[in-house]
Amino acid sequence: MRFAPLSMFKTGPARVAACALALTLGLATVSAVAHQGATGIVKERMDTMSEIARDMKALAAMVKSDKVDADAAREIGSRVAEHAKLFPDQFPEGSLSELSEARAEIWTDFDDFQAKSDALATAAVDLAETDPDDLDRSALRQALKAMGQTCKSCHESYRIKKN
Ligand code: HEC
Repeated sequence: MRFAPLSMFKTGPARVAACALALTLGLATVSAVAHQGATGIVKERMDTMSEIARDMKALAAMVKSDKVDADAAREIGSRVAEHAKLFPDQFPEGSLSELSEARAEIWTDFDDFQAKSDALATAAVDLAETDPDDLDRSALRQALKAMGQTCKSCHESYRIKKN
């Protein structure tokens, strides 16, 4: 599953590593048209999620190309943390719509949803606060993985897969 080739990547050992990373981050499920037509708070949180996904891709690109810009990566870390902190407010009770992929279980287990939001914020703050001298490719890969696991864990519990 983690090593299944994606059509967006060519195959080959280096590409397989990139695929594994993309899958770990849940980026394979990003759909450009997912939120077309959404409005209000549902649209706002979809935009937040999309910005986070964009930032994660930028980090993944640094790892992949081995061109790590430590300051830029730290900045991304703090932006992702700020975005993750918006989640609890961007999921007010019962805010579902036809286009939303949110599951109603968010509100029957909101403490857990909050904890999963905090897990992303914490992992992102860890990246933001990494000493730039220590932020090499391998450290960034680890940070990305730590953040990516929180996406996966929350999506598995609280996001409906529509495609
Ligand atoms: C605390 C839970 C939680 C965490 C953590 C989380 N997400 Fe989400 N995400 C959701 C939920 C719920 C939805 C569905 C929202 C909706 O459709 O109303 C979603 C939707 C998305 C979407 C689709 C947005 C759209 O336009 O429809 C993307 C992309 C996404 N998340 C990326 C990420 C990435 C990347 C991470 C980790 C860096 C992440 N998410 C972390 C809960 C979470």
